[in-house]
Amino acid sequence: MRIKNTTANKWLFIAGLSVLTILFHYLYGMSGSPVLEAFHRRLCYIPIVLGGLWFGLGGGLATAAAISASVLPFIILHRSMGHDFVSGELVEVMFYLVIGGLTGILSDAQKRERKRSEDLREQLRMSGRMSTIGELFAYMMHEIKNPLSSIQGAADIVADSSVDAQRKQEFAGLLKSEIGRLNRTLNSMLSFTRMKLNTGTCILTDEISRLLELIRPQALKNNVRINLSFQEAVSLQADCDKIRQVLLNLLLNAIEAMGRGGRLDITVRKTDNSMVDIVVQDTGPGIAPEHIQRLFQPFFTTKETGTGLGLAISKRIVEEHKGKLLVESSPGAGTVFTVRLPCSR
Ligand SMILES: Nc1ncnc2c1ncn2[C@@H]1O[C@H](COP(=O)(O)OP(=O)(O)O)[C@@H](O)[C@H]1O
Ligand SMILES: [Mg+2]
Repeated sequence: MRIKNTTANKWLFIAGLSVLTILFHYLYGMSGSPVLEAFHRRLCYIPIVLGGLWFGLGGGLATAAAISASVLPFIILHRSMGHDFVSGELVEVMFYLVIGGLTGILSDAQKRERKRSEDLREQLRMSGRMSTIGELFAYMMHEIKNPLSSIQGAADIVADSSVDAQRKQEFAGLLKSEIGRLNRTLNSMLSFTRMKLNTGTCILTDEISRLLELIRPQALKNNVRINLSFQEAVSLQADCDKIRQVLLNLLLNAIEAMGRGGRLDITVRKTDNSMVDIVVQDTGPGIAPEHIQRLFQPFFTTKETGTGLGLAISKRIVEEHKGKLLVESSPGAGTVFTVRLPCSR
């Protein structure tokens, strides 16, 4: 049976302990044995200190007062023992009150200090959150405003009757590509805010093979050789679309990073019975240490037309699956992203 740590239970414990110590006081206070007599007074400090620790100044004083009041009849009963005995007992009673009060004051101060540092921590968390929201908002404005002003400029030219047809066509193309970019940014933002998993069984290796077909043309264009290796088919209970989105982000990032060609290795391996690692390794330029820290922040991009949302969303998806998205990279040494996910046995 588990006893709950409630206020009532704590008071009950103190009361029980006080009764026991007072009983001890009455039974052995006059036993003549120096050891028992040494015990009989000091045992009372245990419930008093507990009262002060758990309930502050009020608790310490109340326990000390209750024990002192219970001990007084004992002193009166044995007052015939002489002046020394009575004053010794009274000094002890005074100490009960002093110790109860002191423990209570110290415990109250400690509680106040703990509360203050908790408040401070919460304030810090809040201001951190607010500045992230502010930053996010500023970036969002920037990401939306940029294509909007290009769209405005291009639309003005398309609508201008003095502009020749060929230039109009050129700007109509720009109009389309900027609208496409805006659309991609907004879609990514949406999938960042709305994260609902549609879980099913995914055969990981099949999903990856299908993805590779999809990205092959781009890999060819960038002169990137792709190599997939796995020992066994691994199945996951996961949202297949979302996992595919994560892997596509990583593969495209790797291909984009290897502008002048390179090698892209994808390895699937079970780390133990319950986890699988999907390792995406490229021979690209690598990532500077100061960029690594910002890699998973929304809107962090080093690309002219990047949204900077790919890795932020990927991390979120992997974490929603109770997994981890890890990165290892240094300039000149290529980059390794590892998606670590729980998998079926
Ligand atoms: N494989 C990689 N090699 C080098 N840099 C990378 C790699 N993957 C991601 N990055 C860096 O991380 C940034 C953020 O990536 P991501 O969130 O996908 O946004 P985006 O691709 O739109 O820039 C990229 O702009 C790039 O600087
Ligand atoms: Mg990307």
